[in-house]
Amino acid sequence: MVKAVVLGASGGIGQPLSLLLKASPLVDELSLYDVVNTPGVTADLSHISSIAKITGYLPADDGLKKALTGADVVLIPAGIPRKPGMTRDDLFKINAGIVRDLVKGIAEYSPKAFILVISNPVNSTVPIAAEVMMQAGKFDPKRLFGVTTLDVVRAETFVQDITGENDPSKTVIPVIGGHSGETIVPLFSLAKPAVEIPAEKLAPLIKRVQFGGDEVVEAKGGAGSATLSMAYAGFRFAEKVIKAANGEKGIVEPTFVYLPGVTGGDAIAKEIGIDYFSVPVELGPSGAEKATNILPDVNDEEKKLLEACKTGLKGSIEKGVEFVHNPP
Ligand code: NAI
Repeated sequence: MVKAVVLGASGGIGQPLSLLLKASPLVDELSLYDVVNTPGVTADLSHISSIAKITGYLPADDGLKKALTGADVVLIPAGIPRKPGMTRDDLFKINAGIVRDLVKGIAEYSPKAFILVISNPVNSTVPIAAEVMMQAGKFDPKRLFGVTTLDVVRAETFVQDITGENDPSKTVIPVIGGHSGETIVPLFSLAKPAVEIPAEKLAPLIKRVQFGGDEVVEAKGGAGSATLSMAYAGFRFAEKVIKAANGEKGIVEPTFVYLPGVTGGDAIAKEIGIDYFSVPVELGPSGAEKATNILPDVNDEEKKLLEACKTGLKGSIEKGVEFVHNPP
């Protein structure tokens, strides 16, 4: 029996993500929580003839407690999205507090759940979630994931323009680092099967993966950022976490984790000098079971990208940790 919970379920990501979870045969129970509109979204989805039993809550009457109790997987897309001209870091002021308070609820009501953080800036909100769980004495690094799957999905899709491969999901491209501009490091040299990318097309392709979110923000003209592709990516990652928890073997997906707490991750953290980083992680019944060190395989150009990534990432991580220890 799997109970999935969406915190921020009425939003642009929350609604399609809840739809995908409601339709999934892997989910037996689905609980929705938001500060607005949850009754409507819940009533609407409840008419879908799938197995998941659905409930929805607002903050009143212990709504968060009721939503989270018994949760196996909690997805967090709560918070404000970007508008044109904003970076993900600009969201920190509002989203940091939202994520902190929701994770306090998780620490209290469903401390064993897998926590999938979607709210931006992921580079800071994941450290915030970790610190909150640590303060509550409930932190299990194997169960906390920053969802960076959209970067992987974009890399798979955009490279198709060059390879002409019909089905983009057939090419596996590791994307490591963080989830924001230059902290996103797609490793096309390690694509499987290998891809031939003409030199003049590589830099624009990397840039497009790093800043692909901006294309959507601009196209939406102030109405938000990626929601439908993010819901797809969030669901794809959640599905893998659930399948691995159910015992399926060999599931590996890049995700932003606290490396020292994951087998194999400590060595990577020492090598790069950063504790939070997205690397391909083998998933299993206890969550993030093994971090794969692909750093020795990256080429010289990608090493330069990694240097830029580390500079940007360090500050965002520190900002998140600091926010929990010295709230503004
Ligand atoms: P949205 O504004 O459409 O929806 C956010 C929802 O969160 C709203 O329904 C709002 O009522 C709810 N909310 C606000 N405070 C809450 C609280 N304290 N408790 C519960 N719910 C609360 O925004 P959208 O487009 O769904 O984006 C959500 C977040 O996801 C943003 O931070 C955005 O930057 C991030 N995002 C992350 C991506 C990733 O790759 N990880 C990709 C795209 C967006």
